[in-house]
Amino acid sequence: MNIQLQTKLCHMFHIQYPLFLAGMAGGPSTVNLVAAVSNAGGLGTLGAAYMEPDAIRTSIQEIRKRTDKPFGVNLFASPVSDNDTRIGEVNGVLNRMREELHVPLENTSTVKSPDLFEKQCAVILEERVPVISTAFGVLPEPFMQHAKEANLLVVTMVTTVEEAIMAEQAGCDAIVAQGSEAGGHRGTFDMVKHPMGANIGTFALVPQIVDHVQIPVIAAGGIMDGRGLIASLVLGAQGIQMGTRFLTAIESGAHEVYKQALLESTEESTVITKAFSGRPARGIRNSFIRQWDASGIQPLPFPTQNTVTRDIRNAASRMCNPDYMSLWAGQGTRLLTSGQSAGDIVADIIQQARSILPR
Ligand SMILES: Cc1cc2nc3c(=O)[nH]c(=O)nc-3n(C[C@H](O)[C@H](O)[C@H](O)COP(=O)(O)O)c2cc1C
Repeated sequence: MNIQLQTKLCHMFHIQYPLFLAGMAGGPSTVNLVAAVSNAGGLGTLGAAYMEPDAIRTSIQEIRKRTDKPFGVNLFASPVSDNDTRIGEVNGVLNRMREELHVPLENTSTVKSPDLFEKQCAVILEERVPVISTAFGVLPEPFMQHAKEANLLVVTMVTTVEEAIMAEQAGCDAIVAQGSEAGGHRGTFDMVKHPMGANIGTFALVPQIVDHVQIPVIAAGGIMDGRGLIASLVLGAQGIQMGTRFLTAIESGAHEVYKQALLESTEESTVITKAFSGRPARGIRNSFIRQWDASGIQPLPFPTQNTVTRDIRNAASRMCNPDYMSLWAGQGTRLLTSGQSAGDIVADIIQQARSILPR
């Protein structure tokens, strides 16, 4: 088997190395982190799902000041519709946490989550960002068509072979195959079919997807170093996407106490939970998750649960209290390093990968 580090994906995306920074919504993927990964030869991606359209535009302009290399912007492609029918019982559980944190109690009867998707897409198209990637579903028409007309590359994250085929048929240029080891939200499209997400391990998922689509596959989930990169290429992937590995980088926007929790965690520390957002996501088990699980109450669906827990997560962040923050993390956290720049992380991974390849 002839494994090359410069894969077709590199030519297609005009990058030196087949390594994507995951777009990480909620702040970790700062403009400095995105630009640093792109400058190091990978593809930086801005996690823009929760960002106001104007803030996305400003960030794109800031990234362009820091790099002339390609980069991507990532959004959540799922319709926003709130379901607040059980808001009373949910706030009953959350108010006990609010009391502990000394933040105002909530007794609202309705929830209105912002629906920014169309305006976010418009900004990405107007700014002609080279790559648009989505989680939770394929970029819907007519945005797909507009993206194609503007020569943007479109990437979708999937968790099953069926989703990969759907993404290919919809016109995506590449697919991220997200194994169950991955930190953050499960990218699974159909929450009715898979209420806790489709949780197939990276090692099983990648080759099965590779065998069923023609477009390049990017492996994600638990990949932390050059060994993971080479293993992914051997499985037939043309590249990797990493989120957790970059959370402790100097340029990462992750809170210092979150970085600390990551560095202290092990492969046993994380669980997949719907407690924070209503969508299954992998993160370090903390008091918030324990208290939620003990309540026996079902979370509201995404994005309603996400909207109603936001004040608690924000307060915990202000108070530097990791017990009530969403500490998204994959299963590879023993392989994290402290105080390294993103450029050095990329260089280390590539160097290790090269050392594995036969000369
Ligand atoms: C903190 C964090 C936030 C994430 N946010 C997003 C996101 O906004 N959009 C997305 O497509 N994937 C997101 N992901 C998932 C990544 O795309 C990717 O599947 C995952 O990071 C791969 O596993 P790893 O964390 O073990 O590298 C996030 C992951 C983490 C760790």
